[in-house]
Amino acid sequence: MTLLDTLARPLHDLRISVTDRCNFRCVYCMPKEIYGKGYQFLPKDQLLTFEELARLAAVFASLGTKKVRLTGGEPLMRRGLDALVRLLAEIPDLDLTLTTNGSLLAEQAPALAAAGLKRVTVSLDSLDDTVFKCMNDVDFPVARVLGGIDAAVAAGLEPVKINMVVRRGLNEGSILPMARYFREQGHILRFIEYMDVGHTNGWRLEDVVSAREIVRTIDAELPLLPVDANYRGEVAERWRYADGSGEIGVIASVTQPFCADCTRARLSADGGLYTCLFATTGRDLRGLLRAGAPDDDIRAAIETTWVERTDRYSEQRSSETAGLHKIEMSFIGG
Ligand code: GTP
Ligand code: 5AD
Ligand code: SF4
Ligand code: SF4
Repeated sequence: MTLLDTLARPLHDLRISVTDRCNFRCVYCMPKEIYGKGYQFLPKDQLLTFEELARLAAVFASLGTKKVRLTGGEPLMRRGLDALVRLLAEIPDLDLTLTTNGSLLAEQAPALAAAGLKRVTVSLDSLDDTVFKCMNDVDFPVARVLGGIDAAVAAGLEPVKINMVVRRGLNEGSILPMARYFREQGHILRFIEYMDVGHTNGWRLEDVVSAREIVRTIDAELPLLPVDANYRGEVAERWRYADGSGEIGVIASVTQPFCADCTRARLSADGGLYTCLFATTGRDLRGLLRAGAPDDDIRAAIETTWVERTDRYSEQRSSETAGLHKIEMSFIGG
């Protein structure tokens, strides 16, 4: 079945945040001043269990969802995640994937692949240790993320995609080295414009390096040609190297919003359903689950939420939206 929202957008993807915790403190996502020692993360009993998550995912699939992406925080911080993957892998015809910072991937890639995970996307903002450590703010070295990527390849979790958030003054000098390296490695690198998610990262428009500028920088050394999208609603705009040596993507949610084709629903770790990355409120599905609601009631709640959906935040981004109390990226899962 195809469920359409008020702007005729289908519910195609579900992004599930399995934990609000992360072992990194990326300055654009979980700044240390806020996510310090005293920060209260969700207690365990408020997290959806794997059984609850699998049940919800199956209901979403019955409503036409074709892709599930596990996110966080850092999803691999959730203990025994391969057991959840095993449950989700039972849902037929589902593109099952995960976005990770790569720090725990070397240990977990084999078990995740064996459980039925299809592919992974790894976040990495620079190949330069000094720059990368400045961004993750926990002194984590590049080499261990690269080791995680290699382990993912060895386990067959391909294609591996790499996400690089570009923030002016921090890592625009890493754009070309990253492009050269991942072109050689044969992985798809995607550059993400720094976004005003949440309200703790002190976002300023001046800190955004536009997708156009990124493409221009690479094209000057490694000529690029545009490529058509793989599917409606793909967030990354695709470009390929003119010499046939691979492709990159740019995710221009600030300078070229793609809300018109936004087909993603998001589930927070505590079971809130959000229909926009920039949402201020969600619908509580955990309450329904724990009150013993049958699948039909849960399906009806999801349906109503989607059918009533009007979100197009990135297209409306303005001085008015700047003051909204938005949900943090680490909570809603990127
Ligand atoms: P594939 O193309 O299937 O690999 O998935 P994807 O493009 O959805 O990948 P991914 O989840 O890695 O998305 C890349 C990044 O784009 C996210 O981490 C976000 O930073 C950003 N992004 C994804 N979805 C949205 C969205 O709906 N709105 C906005 N504004 N940004 C998004
Ligand atoms: N702007 C853009 N991307 C962000 N991410 C986290 N915070 C931001 C932000 N403010 C990225 C991560 C990861 C994905 C889940 O979202 O680096 O690749
Ligand atoms: Fe953690 Fe990812 Fe946020 Fe960095 S961007 S703090 S790795 S959740
Ligand atoms: Fe979708 Fe909201 Fe992002 Fe627009 S801003 S693309 S509606 S998640």
